[in-house]
Amino acid sequence: MKNVLIIGSGGREHALADKLKQDRKVGTVFCAPGNGGTKRASGIENIDFSGFDDLKRKVQSNAIDLVVVGPEKPLAEGIADFFEGAGISCFGFKKSTARLESSKNFADEFKQKYGVQSPSFESFSVYEEAKHFLEKRFSRSRGTKLWVKADELCGGKGVIGVETLEEGEEASSTLLEEKECGVGEKIIIQEDVPGEEITVQALTDGDSFVLTPSSQDHKQLYEGGVGPNTGGMGAYAPAPAFSGQVEKNFRNEVLLPTSKGLQEEGLGGPGVLYFGLGLSETGNPKVLEYNVRFGDPEAQTVLRLLDSDLYPILKAASENRLSEIKGEVDWQERAAICVILSVDGYPRDYGDEVYPIEGLKMAGKLPEVRIYHSGTAVEDGTVYTNGGRILSVTAVGDSVREARRKVYRAIDEIHFEGMYYRKDIGSKAV
Ligand code: GLY
Repeated sequence: MKNVLIIGSGGREHALADKLKQDRKVGTVFCAPGNGGTKRASGIENIDFSGFDDLKRKVQSNAIDLVVVGPEKPLAEGIADFFEGAGISCFGFKKSTARLESSKNFADEFKQKYGVQSPSFESFSVYEEAKHFLEKRFSRSRGTKLWVKADELCGGKGVIGVETLEEGEEASSTLLEEKECGVGEKIIIQEDVPGEEITVQALTDGDSFVLTPSSQDHKQLYEGGVGPNTGGMGAYAPAPAFSGQVEKNFRNEVLLPTSKGLQEEGLGGPGVLYFGLGLSETGNPKVLEYNVRFGDPEAQTVLRLLDSDLYPILKAASENRLSEIKGEVDWQERAAICVILSVDGYPRDYGDEVYPIEGLKMAGKLPEVRIYHSGTAVEDGTVYTNGGRILSVTAVGDSVREARRKVYRAIDEIHFEGMYYRKDIGSKAV
């Protein structure tokens, strides 16, 4: 029996733990720190920790065979380098590769250098220069849309879509002058790609890539794709637009040059490379962003379609032998959906009040429904809200239409004070 440790506390980590736990060869799945859902699940144990050294002691004392890193922050801080140095098997990119997500400027220069299809961009360290660029861009054409991005990690809040000069100036000032995301040293202003957005995630050991089914995230807070950007309000898989020529173009013009770039720069290693793609008017996928981990809620969605056990894939990737098992990885040719239940006020200030959640048991018993906790805590057997995104309710079906019906039926059973969710997740695909 193999014990596994998952780092993180969201819906993605609960989904990973749940999938790993279904493997009879996996013993205990530890989550550090985990959440209310992982605390309640049988065979999964939450552990507290204070720093990397403490984690290492816990890995050793619990005979953990593999560490899986969920979020980007510990990767950017070098957790994978730390475990490698300690001789502990770890699935997650090293700090050098994590820069593809932790520095947008590094990622954009990488894409440019290796000819990865991507929208054009400019980077700025001085507000006046950004303002001058925006003035030129907005005076040149009507209907201009641009993305102002913090160079650094910002928990999903560092990417701002702007459609007027005033919005562009405000976003640039927020990130560069008010330093909303941290250091505020640099911003990137990127051209918009007007077509659909698709996510493709690849499990890799640095040499081989296993693609998960494509998916589509719903980043905006409100129905119809309007309102502020969030960490993701829901997703479905597969994305119908990712087929035929689009998929071919992705493989030739995105995946191939990315993989070549990783090799030449000495990057790569075990991890998940997330391609946030925008489809151009001619159907060409362009990389809007790389992430260096599973998406959330994309993980909760695509893992529902994985028929094979997850542990052997992650272990093989961490030992640089993914090619040996690549051909055996099976994905169901069905559809999956995830709808996020959040608290009113998310992603802005939502206070720290907690509310009991009702109906989880009933909803979780419905056919082909699985509920992952995104932000919950458990006390005396009651599950409480504990964050902005609270639950990831998922379902699978023979079509997106069927999966949607099941997921919204399950959500009807769940209730907590201030519960909010989008009712149009996956509607584009039916
Ligand atoms: N759902 C978008 C992300 O995980 O970055």
